Amino acid sequence: MSELSAPVLVVQDLHREFGGVHAVNGASFTVPPGRITGLIGPNGAGKSTALNIIAGALKPSAGTVSYRGKDITGLPSYKVARRGIIRTFQLSSEFAALTVLENLLVAAPPAGRDAVAGGARQAVLAAASTCPPRKMSTPGTSVAARNACWS
Ligand SMILES: Nc1ncnc2c1ncn2[C@@H]1O[C@H](COP(=O)(O)OP(=O)(O)O)[C@@H](O)[C@H]1O
Ligand SMILES: [Mg+2]
Repeated sequence: MSELSAPVLVVQDLHREFGGVHAVNGASFTVPPGRITGLIGPNGAGKSTALNIIAGALKPSAGTVSYRGKDITGLPSYKVARRGIIRTFQLSSEFAALTVLENLLVAAPPAGRDAVAGGARQAVLAAASTCPPRKMSTPGTSVAARNACWS
């Protein structure tokens, strides 16, 4: 099969148990390139658990996940993200201490893949870890101190 027609994602015989609950019980499916693919099922069918396993938020009890021909089973989410799989959430929330642009930059590719976005992202993350929150209502931080830190 050529690289263009090979499945992007292959899930094989995936299982995940939570105590006595078999949340995912032998799920197998493929995602072809160039198509929007959905996973449907009633509440409790195991959709979120399967997506969490693919995205690296949960480890499977058994089974494999491969992405673009490489095994990614059990990789942590940040490594799965570097390969190109990002999970988004139904309810989103932002970092209150950051501006809209900075919130977007947090999701930018790491430095190296897109040097400009990656460099800006590093700067935002560094400031976010050391500066007081930007929110005017945050007690105990002066406007001057905040502005000096974030400038
Ligand atoms: N962290 C967990 N601990 C225990 N049971 C869980 C956990 N996550 C999901 N489950 C159970 O696994 C089953 C599948 O849940 P889920 O994957 O959320 O289904 P869906 O997204 O299709 O609604 C349900 O019975 C749910 O209660
Ligand atoms: Mg769900």
